Amino acid sequence: WGVDGHAIICQIAQDRLSDSAAAAVEDLLPNYAKNNLSRLCSWADRVKFRYRWSSPLHYIDTPDGLCTYDYDRDCKDEDGVKGRCVSGAITNYTNQLLDYGNSSSESHYNLTEALLFLAHLMGDVHQPLHVGFTSDRGGNTINVRWYRRKSVLHHVWDDNIIETAEDRFYDDNVEEFTEAIKQNITGEWSDQVVKWEKCSDNKVACPDAYASESIEAACDWAYKGVKNNTQLEDEYFLSRLPVVNLRLAEGGVRLAATLNRIFG
Ligand code: ADE
Ligand code: ZN
Ligand code: ZN
Repeated sequence: WGVDGHAIICQIAQDRLSDSAAAAVEDLLPNYAKNNLSRLCSWADRVKFRYRWSSPLHYIDTPDGLCTYDYDRDCKDEDGVKGRCVSGAITNYTNQLLDYGNSSSESHYNLTEALLFLAHLMGDVHQPLHVGFTSDRGGNTINVRWYRRKSVLHHVWDDNIIETAEDRFYDDNVEEFTEAIKQNITGEWSDQVVKWEKCSDNKVACPDAYASESIEAACDWAYKGVKNNTQLEDEYFLSRLPVVNLRLAEGGVRLAATLNRIFG
């Protein structure tokens, strides 16, 4: 996702934290974040160049056309190093954060950075094309037109659908869009939320389940009907916006649920 998608997910999560998780987040965030995760939710994208090792941690490449995800098969970087993908990174930073409050010794890890990576990557694993096909790099090499403008399919899902929704329906205001999604969470979707939060086998984080949902949505919605140089307009925008809304909501709800389990 772009800046707005991440800010939406982190704001939804911030507003669902338990008291103990909110206190830990307040403690770990730098003061200039004003006790709100959403202000630093895109930090992990800004450090991709400084921390070159971190760029494969934002996505998963899966076999072309298969529409499935398997941790052992797919969670690796371009050199084949296992665990270096968004799902492996979510598990890693979750485990680092479980050190928080272990008074026995200071953590060996930078838990502020662990929190900022976790908050960001929990968003990315919900972006369908962050679990995309290998040959097109998650839609990054598929050129399209978004209405009259040049874009690429990956960017349509990171940014263009959200920008167009804000422009058309929410007064160009990310807070208004966030509020509308939050109302869906407590209204229309309220009976599904408990299921979204659930993580089987008493695990603290469940990123593999979210990655599987993403590649399915990528096949069913993102890639469907799109070839190189396809023009995407209202038909695509209006049918895919509900999918984007749902993934942003699930991302926010699950980020909060994970932080509440970590800091519970
Ligand atoms: N680079 C390679 N594959 C990618 C993906 N699925 N998402 C973002 N960046 C990528
Ligand atoms: Zn992206
Ligand atoms: Zn990212």
